Amino acid sequence: MSEKHSAAWPHKDLLDVEHLSTDELATLLDTAKQMFAYNQEPVKKHLHLKGKGIILFFAENSTRTKTSFDIAGKRLSADTFSVSSQGSSIQKGESLSDTALTLDAMDPDVIVLRHSKSGAAKFIAERVRASVVNAGDGWHSHPTQALLDYFTLHQKWGDDFKGKTVTIVGDVAHSRVARSNIHLLSSLGVNLRVCAPKTLLPAGIEHWPVEVYKDLYKATKESDAVICLRLQLERMAAGLIPHLDEYSQRFCLDHKHLQEASPDVHVLHPGPIMRGVDVTANLADSKNSRILDQVASGVAIRMAILYLLVGDKSLLLDNNTQEGGK
Ligand code: CP
Repeated sequence: MSEKHSAAWPHKDLLDVEHLSTDELATLLDTAKQMFAYNQEPVKKHLHLKGKGIILFFAENSTRTKTSFDIAGKRLSADTFSVSSQGSSIQKGESLSDTALTLDAMDPDVIVLRHSKSGAAKFIAERVRASVVNAGDGWHSHPTQALLDYFTLHQKWGDDFKGKTVTIVGDVAHSRVARSNIHLLSSLGVNLRVCAPKTLLPAGIEHWPVEVYKDLYKATKESDAVICLRLQLERMAAGLIPHLDEYSQRFCLDHKHLQEASPDVHVLHPGPIMRGVDVTANLADSKNSRILDQVASGVAIRMAILYLLVGDKSLLLDNNTQEGGK
């Protein structure tokens, strides 16, 4: 176990959501609320990660996750460093293991990894001393996305998740976001539905804790929230959908599908949005849309995770820890 393992948070790494207990989720939520409050202040920089080093190792493209981890680290006074496939020695054929060991030898406190291979974060976590945060591994898991979606809905629902209905629409088969959200939301007593063409449902879906729909009107009936997913064309074998137009006619979420949903239904999307394919532009920009709220939640959740993993717990979580003091 790493010397940097925090006594107050019993995990060296964050690899998925399955291993978080109810109490740990509550701690994370409370911490993220404080971080969210920090982010509303005129001076957003606090000292909880002063002296810590965070490597953002993104071997797959990202806008939201990478930038928000970078901002999260810097807001708490960590030094952040970026490594991506492009421009690194991965292009010369260096293996994931050797790259991870090389980065770890530079003594970071945290390595945040995004990778196209399922299990990549666990693979490096078993080899490095730094804490590892999974920023999305293949189709497997995207824990910080599920946690930020939880935080976003918690801002609307409070603790009242049990019995709510959440529908996940689109490319479930290739979606780590769907898998992580289904794990987390089902543990909170949410009724889960998925709606997708048969070719975009994973094998074994009948064993998942979800109801499967093919009709978007029926799937969204009485839903309290709908999570739209991006069609992951880069992970998709040719021929899984007949044509984008045909797909979007059936599965692009629009106001018209939500007539029988809960009156204040929340529409979420992890991004990047494909307007007119996953969700109509009108709906994405409407009062029902939580898409930009999700982005703001992402900074707070990632600040909370970094703090819990390696932050200075002797600094109380209050508004008196700004750089330079008050
Ligand atoms: N939601 C998400 O993971 O977005 P990015 O790929 O832009 O990080």
